Amino acid sequence: MSRIPPQVRDLIHALPDSRIREISLFGAGKPGLIPLWFGESDEQTPDFIKDAARAAMDQGETFYAPNAGVAPLRHEIKSYMTRLYGREFGLNRFVVTASGMNAIILTMQALLDPGDNMLAVTPVWPNCKETAAIMGAEVRDVPLSEADGGWSLDLDRLFDAADDRTRVIFINSPGNPTGWMMPEGQRDAILQWARHRGIWIVADDVYARLVYDRPHAPAFVEVADPDDRLIAINSFSKSWSMTGWRLGWITAPVSLLGDLEKLNEYNIAGPTTFVQHAGAVALRDGDGYVAELLERLRRRRDLVAQGLSQFSRVRFASPEAAFYAFFSVDGVTDSLEFARRIVSEAGVGLAPGNAFGDQGEGYLRLCFASSEAALSDALERMRPLLDD
Ligand SMILES: Cc1ncc(COP(=O)(O)O)c(C=O)c1O
Repeated sequence: MSRIPPQVRDLIHALPDSRIREISLFGAGKPGLIPLWFGESDEQTPDFIKDAARAAMDQGETFYAPNAGVAPLRHEIKSYMTRLYGREFGLNRFVVTASGMNAIILTMQALLDPGDNMLAVTPVWPNCKETAAIMGAEVRDVPLSEADGGWSLDLDRLFDAADDRTRVIFINSPGNPTGWMMPEGQRDAILQWARHRGIWIVADDVYARLVYDRPHAPAFVEVADPDDRLIAINSFSKSWSMTGWRLGWITAPVSLLGDLEKLNEYNIAGPTTFVQHAGAVALRDGDGYVAELLERLRRRRDLVAQGLSQFSRVRFASPEAAFYAFFSVDGVTDSLEFARRIVSEAGVGLAPGNAFGDQGEGYLRLCFASSEAALSDALERMRPLLDD
């Protein structure tokens, strides 16, 4: 009897491994390594949020929750968004998700058919694009331009990439890995154009609060009408140091609520209930924490910018937002290989730029959400490789 090898769908089998995971596996277990490759802070979640999770468990919040999320959290999301953006939002525009990542794939499931295409402003965190590929959609990169380490978007390039199969534009601003922040004028122009073309904007706002010189980044949710084709993705991971909790939310037109609830049901039947209750407390009581975190991040950014500026092979501009230094290194043509050398020779873990698409080749990403001592040590260790 012939045995047929088990086979998954071709397009799943063809998905690339994440190169960020790849480099972290390469360095796993190396004694004394300073890991700066993942997009997360080295701080634990603040106590007031941990306490809220414990209290919710003690109060018996251990059962299934409604598909749109528990009521206290949805109410806190509504008041947080109103506070932050200075405008009212209807409660039925929010669906709680098990992370920003989960929000992204739910969104792709809701919007993309095989053969559709999605324009993605790149370089970008790879998961954003691979989720569209899972749906059988084509992803079209729209590369940002770089000059002296600063990044900018050419709107004509974006608009020219669209055709009649374009269903989605994916914009992550502030951006991972570049720290690029979409200016208000471009936001308004993209919104007008997408409205006219009937194209969905998927705005990945997970870094919306990690902005150094203003309260939040320019956001589509600030100016869009409630029934515009806009889905905004948000997460508790970055601003409240909750990466391991897996909690996020979607802001969408009211008309999508029922469909998004169905998708939540059929994907995971809702995020962990007591985690949702802790999320409500994070939003209600967390503004002070976010402000303090930002101050710490600002000092760390400045320390890293100062350190990198002294290395002769590095080209870099200090980012206005997010917590990444994305820098190019003269002569590097294979950033994964170079990241491996940095692990082996310097004991520092960085993400290779080519993990974020072809435009990222020659770059490295350093997440500076670590202690100043660790960052100073990492810079010193890398000096022989980055300074001739
Ligand atoms: C651009 C971007 N979007 C979404 C996420 C997802 O965050 P999480 O799934 O932890 O909420 C990340 C995490 O690194 C990210 O960088």
